[in-house]
Amino acid sequence: MERKKITLEDIKKMKQKKQKITMLTAYDFPTASLIDQAGIDMILVGDSVANVVLGLKSTTEVGMTEMIHHTKAVKRAVKYAFLVGDMPYESYQTNPEESVKNAKRFIDEGCDAVKLEWFDKCPQVTETIIKAGIPVMGHIGLTPQTADQLGGFKVQGKDADAAKRLISQAGLLEKLGCFSIVLECVPDLVAKQITEKLKIPTVGIGAGIYCDGQVLVTHDLLGLFERFKPKFVKQYINLSPKILEAFKKYKEEVLNGEFPGPEHSFTIKKEELDKI
Ligand code: KIV
Repeated sequence: MERKKITLEDIKKMKQKKQKITMLTAYDFPTASLIDQAGIDMILVGDSVANVVLGLKSTTEVGMTEMIHHTKAVKRAVKYAFLVGDMPYESYQTNPEESVKNAKRFIDEGCDAVKLEWFDKCPQVTETIIKAGIPVMGHIGLTPQTADQLGGFKVQGKDADAAKRLISQAGLLEKLGCFSIVLECVPDLVAKQITEKLKIPTVGIGAGIYCDGQVLVTHDLLGLFERFKPKFVKQYINLSPKILEAFKKYKEEVLNGEFPGPEHSFTIKKEELDKI
């Protein structure tokens, strides 16, 4: 069947039709290509690239240079999925004008939208970017860029006051024109209330079954990130030991002369060889 590129309207309609939305992160060409071929609806070039690809401790350690570099690689592979660029720390916190300029850079590289994590001036920045014609995905709950201010990497919205704050943040982001909102590490029944209250789709990560869609960090799903495994991650395959085995086998075969074999080598005719 002929597939078509997923649009903003398609994403919004999926909620109305009660169709679950799937989203994964990608940071490079080959992975993005496989995710796209698998029919995943949305691809996020996440600032989680800091942790799972660049070996950094915090997502706050990447900026526009790294994000645009990875966005370019992902964009070259994506034919169908709706592509979201994750705005890195300090690219939208300083002032709304600067944030529009940075958001436009993602769009210029072929993204369909940008994602912003909640912070105290988030509503003003979100509004300015949307008014500049750029679709915005919100992100509330556990927001890793400002996790220190949330008491660390903890589930958010666990008491009534905190849950009410999340519900009101979600309502405000919808009112400002966000087309969708990521809910990260939120109790499932709080995510359910938010999802039922909003007309725009929620996409959960550690936010339970009731969200309109789900997102995971691809390296977690593939078993390629060994430093830490959050409770909400389902590892669909554990690639790390398989890759390690392949690297060890390669070393062994080079050392014992098994690789390269004749099938991996090029030949020269004997008469040519004799002339050398
Ligand atoms: O950067 C990222 O991977 C994210 C997801 C966790 C939603 O923001």
